[in-house]
Amino acid sequence: MTSNSLIYGHRGVPVKFPENSLAGFAYAIGHQIDGLEFDVHLTKDRVPVIMHDEEINRTTDGMGRIADYTYAELRQFTLANGEPVPSLKELLDLVSGEPVHLNLEFKTDKHYYQGIERIVLQLVQQADLVYPVVFSSFNLRSLERSHAIDPRQKYAFLTSAKLGDPEGFAVAEHLEGLHLEHYQDVQHVSERVWTVDDPDDLRDLFSKQVSAVITDNFELAREVRAAV
Ligand code: G3P
Ligand code: MG
Repeated sequence: MTSNSLIYGHRGVPVKFPENSLAGFAYAIGHQIDGLEFDVHLTKDRVPVIMHDEEINRTTDGMGRIADYTYAELRQFTLANGEPVPSLKELLDLVSGEPVHLNLEFKTDKHYYQGIERIVLQLVQQADLVYPVVFSSFNLRSLERSHAIDPRQKYAFLTSAKLGDPEGFAVAEHLEGLHLEHYQDVQHVSERVWTVDDPDDLRDLFSKQVSAVITDNFELAREVRAAV
């Protein structure tokens, strides 16, 4: 049996590079990863940047909230490999013309960045991308706002919850997919499961032909997929 499930790198390749770093994204692209998942916030002067947390404390040599720094100020801090916090524009330039799927997560569930959806959609619309981006968020309002701005893009709701009627919910919310922490039997919309690093779990999901898995270790996942 062959599995058609795609493999997305969760925050790039965190088992080898700092999470959400250009070095990790570049390595993954150079090694023909199927897709990349990454997280987006806005600086004080409204530049979209890539980081998981709302604060820079855990992943840089600085302290404080992204929302309180201008882009120029934020760029003075570095990730563990010495590179500055990437902007969304830098990543879009890196993937320009490359056959890699992107899953852009709006990190708007803990801190809401006013107007982030319009700014991000505009940047993505201008980029030279091979595949349509999948926009995801734990914050359904961000996806609804995005859909109102650009209904042609793909939107996916991120959740840890078990949904009662996943497909009905997806249709009602104009969603192309669901990004689930726990597998559900979903047939008519895309299902991408996160964050899957255990070989047995990967094997199971590949056998079930989920649309994609989002993993910290794409090379391990690829070995498992090849053996399904
Ligand atoms: O998109 C899947 C996953 O990234 C969601 O959780 O906290 O790692 O952004 P988190
Ligand atoms: Mg994420």
